[in-house]
Amino acid sequence: MSFTGTGKIWMNGSLVDWADAKIHIASHVVHYGSAVFEGARCYETPRGSACFQLDAHMRRLMDSARIYRMDSSFDQATLTAAVLDTIRANEHKACYIRPIVYRGYHALGVNPFPCPVDAAVLTWEWGAYLGPEALEKGVDVQVSSWSRAAPNTFPTLAKTSANYANSQLIKMEAVVQGYSEGIALDSFGYISEGSGQNLFLVRDEVIYTPPLSSAVLPGITRNSIVTIARDLGFQVKEEVMPREMLYIADEAFFVGTAAEVTPIRSVDKIVVGAGRRGPVTEALQSGFFDIINGEKPDRYGWLTYVYPGEPRQAVGAGQASQVAR
Ligand SMILES: Cc1ncc(COP(=O)(O)O)c(C=O)c1O
Repeated sequence: MSFTGTGKIWMNGSLVDWADAKIHIASHVVHYGSAVFEGARCYETPRGSACFQLDAHMRRLMDSARIYRMDSSFDQATLTAAVLDTIRANEHKACYIRPIVYRGYHALGVNPFPCPVDAAVLTWEWGAYLGPEALEKGVDVQVSSWSRAAPNTFPTLAKTSANYANSQLIKMEAVVQGYSEGIALDSFGYISEGSGQNLFLVRDEVIYTPPLSSAVLPGITRNSIVTIARDLGFQVKEEVMPREMLYIADEAFFVGTAAEVTPIRSVDKIVVGAGRRGPVTEALQSGFFDIINGEKPDRYGWLTYVYPGEPRQAVGAGQASQVAR
């Protein structure tokens, strides 16, 4: 996913050229990981370009900033408008969205308070994170030798850059050992999540996912999948799970803005279920993609259309529930 280096980036209230979106090397964030950020997506739907769960993402950004005592001069509504303005300025039909709130340039020292709290929004075009094939065939993963952060160390409810030092260790180990991803356990040895994805398991048609207390990011896709699954009539349990549940699951899959819904076909070279995308995973994938691709009505109000005049007229009746926001 290399950048084209063109287009606009929103920085502290102005749209600037990609090449000019620079910060000083002495900025606090560079040295101390003092940023909180979001990763969201805008999809091209038959009714127009639409951001998925934008409000939920921007709310989590505000939550992350609050946890880290970052007093941004930009509120949620302003940053949400900045996201939409940036997509429009770049004329994207579909893109990845990266708002970031960070401690800027003033002085260096662990105490971040003297530094300004700056904000930026980047957008760029991006395909399937684990490859298009992965969505159908699934990925081979390992249990990482790295654990997620222990409680009361690095708060996992905050999506902070600092947490991604841990994610990088998990991802690098997996890549070096020939796997697509790593699944980390929490500090008690229970299943947590991937380096950048939440995790679901299926056994006897019951769907399981680790609770927030198992050091997971409160994923927006995770919430969406729980909603879709319950609507499809599945029982969903948030449960603390031992590692070996990974080996005896009928199905396993990752979810996240980047990974969307990606089946897991093996863990530590033990085949999961039949070693291919299972029926529950497929049903949830369809439920998810039908909404984000605009093929089913947006009955949960998850889509925010980007351009004036969208959503375009629905084809056929019964799709009038979509509301432009
Ligand atoms: C560590 C981690 N867990 C889970 C997720 C999935 O979260 P979401 O569905 O909000 O993208 C992400 C992606 O942001 C992540 O980085």
